[in-house]
Amino acid sequence: MKGRPPALDNSCYAQFTPRWLYSILSAMELAVYLVFLVFLVAFVGTFGRAFFRGAPYAPSDPRAIATMLGLAKPAQQDVACDIGSGDGRIMITLANYCERVDGYEINPFLVLWTRMRLRRRNLSDRVKIFRGSLWKADFTKYSVITLFGIPYIMKELEKKLLQELPKGARVVSNRFTFPNWKHAVKKDRVYLYVKE
Ligand SMILES: C[S@@+](CC[C@H](N)C(=O)[O-])C[C@H]1O[C@@H](n2cnc3c(N)ncnc32)[C@H](O)[C@@H]1O
Repeated sequence: MKGRPPALDNSCYAQFTPRWLYSILSAMELAVYLVFLVFLVAFVGTFGRAFFRGAPYAPSDPRAIATMLGLAKPAQQDVACDIGSGDGRIMITLANYCERVDGYEINPFLVLWTRMRLRRRNLSDRVKIFRGSLWKADFTKYSVITLFGIPYIMKELEKKLLQELPKGARVVSNRFTFPNWKHAVKKDRVYLYVKE
């Protein structure tokens, strides 16, 4: 046989597929796209919001966490707080030393994830994660603060912490310094501040 093969004729299938089925399938396809779009916007939006109202999400590595806690020396009687708590890793580590640990986190996905991690470890009753902005939090009860922020929040945060923290409170900051508050100790890239 020579020449091109005969063209496929789909018309026999088309006539067995009713128009209403096409409409339903198209509507379902549209719904799937819409749901995907809503999730995409929510996901990008929440991470973007964190970027503009604080720091973007970047977890502290285990070595930095060990240095932070080594400098802050959290103890049983301390009430500790991780500001912008991400996936909750610092809160979970702090719970090995302190009876009460809090965290503030603006990103609802990370809050959800942290709550699941706390539940799995039976820590939910003494380790609390608050969804919301650190700028609205009240830090007056905390004696230990851990922080991994970003340079452009440090000036405003310094003011807030100096106004609210009790005397003797220790603040450990991973990587970034406050503009005026003099650190007591620096180790690797972690800074310890003590409220006088
Ligand atoms: C650099 S990450 C640090 C995460 C965690 N503390 C750690 O060291 O692994 C900063 C976190 O702060 C959160 N964040 C940013 N702006 C915030 C705000 N205004 N209030 C509360 N959390 C905020 C971000 O969503 C992000 O999870």
